Amino acid sequence: MSDKKKTVLITGISGQDGYYIASQLVAAGECRVVGLVMNSELERSLVGEELWSQIDVVEGELSDSELFNRLLPEVKPDAIFHLAALSHVGQSIKDPMPTMQITGFAPIRLLEAVRTQSPQTRVLFPASAEIFGRTQISPQDESVPLNPCTPYGVAKTLVYSAARCWRLNYGMFVSNAILFNHESPRRGENFVTRKITLAAARIARGMQKELFLGNLDSRRDWGWAPDYAEGMRMIIEHDTPDDFVLATGISHSVREFCAAAFGYLDLDWEKYVRVDPAFVRPNEPVQPVGNPARARSVLGWSNKTSFEQMVEQMVRFDYERLG
Ligand code: GDD
Repeated sequence: MSDKKKTVLITGISGQDGYYIASQLVAAGECRVVGLVMNSELERSLVGEELWSQIDVVEGELSDSELFNRLLPEVKPDAIFHLAALSHVGQSIKDPMPTMQITGFAPIRLLEAVRTQSPQTRVLFPASAEIFGRTQISPQDESVPLNPCTPYGVAKTLVYSAARCWRLNYGMFVSNAILFNHESPRRGENFVTRKITLAAARIARGMQKELFLGNLDSRRDWGWAPDYAEGMRMIIEHDTPDDFVLATGISHSVREFCAAAFGYLDLDWEKYVRVDPAFVRPNEPVQPVGNPARARSVLGWSNKTSFEQMVEQMVRFDYERLG
């Protein structure tokens, strides 16, 4: 992975994780980065000119069953970070099939294309804390039995298991990063953290009066996305293919996130936040909290940015941008 001539393909380069991995690889200057997008015109502005000008871009849809058979001979990647997916858990509960197709089945086609056309290519899949679902074991590490409770969790469990199966049967280099929630100013606006920081900033600027959320008592293990991007790079660069939990080991409630975000702008969150049943999910994983001990001891990885620093950076970004 350190050879200058290596090519890294990142699917979903305009998403939060794709963007940070690409930025870090470009900054290291050691490889050619190719980004897969669905719509260049739209995603160019999401990625920003600075990064866009330093990568090669290919277009394609994950729903296209021939996508990877076409891309592999064209791009000749030494490594693939497969980050493109439908990743909203709540949306997967409302309408499961698109998530099953795009998040669940498309990566299997990627595995098959790599197996038949480019078996030396390394592959990293972003698995999710959602694969543990309703487990009673806490914190969750790599040995906890899988028990997903949402369509998104089921799709991710399929891909996680397929990675292990293809690795076992075909000797391929396929690794899973079992990612707990990770946030940043690049987080999509329909995920709870960004929804809160954006609303707090808008309320502080007099542009919004209230914020409607779902379950305020939900707890999540929230880390800093750029640190997780670094972790995914460490996993794919490791000597052997393997599975690692990336998490902070600490959980906070949505309520606590609200208090921190509004508090940073000297606002009392309880005056502005209301519960709307439309955002309450019928099913939630049982208090996800990860144990990243293995990633720490084997890879030397940790989440280096605290919860407070993360919330502050997200709120500051949204507040300044609106100004
Ligand atoms: N999105 C959203 N919107 N979530 C809300 C809201 C709301 O208005 N109100 C409360 N929540 C609660 C959800 O019910 C959930 O318990 C928690 O906030 C976090 O929701 P999300 O930010 O949507 O993230 P997620 O935990 O469902 O999924 C994220 O993390 C997974 C890894 O643990 C996504 O990034 C997944 O793709 C990822 O795999």
